[in-house]
Amino acid sequence: MTIRPRRSVLYMPGSNTRALEKGRTLPVDALILDLEDSVAPDAKDTARQQVQDALAQGGYAPREVIIRINAPDTPWFADDLAMVAAVRPDAVLLPKVRNGEDVRAMSRAMRENGLGDTGLWIMMETPLAILNAGEIAATRKETPLACMVMGTNDLARETGASLAQERLAFLPWLATCVAAARAHNLAIIDGVYNDFRNEEGFRAECQQGRLMGFDGKTLIHPAQIEAANAIFAPTEEDVAWAEEIVKAFSLPENAGRGAISLNGRMVERLHLEIAERTLSLARAIAERQQHVSGEQS
Ligand code: COA
Ligand code: MG
Repeated sequence: MTIRPRRSVLYMPGSNTRALEKGRTLPVDALILDLEDSVAPDAKDTARQQVQDALAQGGYAPREVIIRINAPDTPWFADDLAMVAAVRPDAVLLPKVRNGEDVRAMSRAMRENGLGDTGLWIMMETPLAILNAGEIAATRKETPLACMVMGTNDLARETGASLAQERLAFLPWLATCVAAARAHNLAIIDGVYNDFRNEEGFRAECQQGRLMGFDGKTLIHPAQIEAANAIFAPTEEDVAWAEEIVKAFSLPENAGRGAISLNGRMVERLHLEIAERTLSLARAIAERQQHVSGEQS
């Protein structure tokens, strides 16, 4: 079982060369090089060219690289997709998805551009996407869809709902998307926290996202990386407990049993599955950490 950690997924405007440069050394799990909302219409062509040059130069591994393109109904979509085909990132991120047909159409456009084996990530940021979350996630059977990203700022704008008070108004939508993603074995990343100087508020929102089942958080600033990496990683206690579960089920006397008692708690075979996932995520994170400290020494 191989798992890609996606604790920290940092957006950077394609128009910002300093950010594109910094992306090669920041300890993030993934980078979203953005051509969409963070790039002004006048800067679209420059940003596209800068992202192309940066990726041609390389140096981003082992970070996962995702390019967020402009929506299909914009004048930039075709050029964006052609650039993606030239540089072949790990995935392309499609904004403003409304339904399953939007995902299928994107998948066809990707095949037509020779991007058949590139991953597809989508923004969940329109009211229709929330209402159609199950149908959208189900397209995984016929498309390269791999990951959902919550676009909470767009959702706030389009619905009139506020992100205040610990995202009270957003909780049903966030939970619906987590359920849809998990029903179809997709990864899912929480939305951004705009107030990037507020560390306490950011940490609280990461904790909330982790409790809800998100794999990680999208970030807007390097100051947010460390907390996201820590909060979305299994804790030492999680790892120790997972090891105990694996050990207990490997004992010959437990071989045929569905449920056992361990330290006074009931543990079932489904917990064994979760434990194995925890251990494999912890291993992947440890490898990532080694690579990053190697880069910095
Ligand atoms: N990715 C990479 N590096 C970033 C970064 C990002 N998203 N945001 C800031 N940095 C870098 C800056 O270049 C600067 O580098 P340096 O000091 O080594 O030169 C350093 O981090 C500190 O930046 P700071 O001055 O604190 O921030 P700022 O005022 O320059 O930028 C924002 C603030 C919000 C404009 C900027 O963080 C940003 O553009 N974030 C991404 C926005 C985005 O992509 N939105 C779309 C999705 S919601
Ligand atoms: Mg958006």
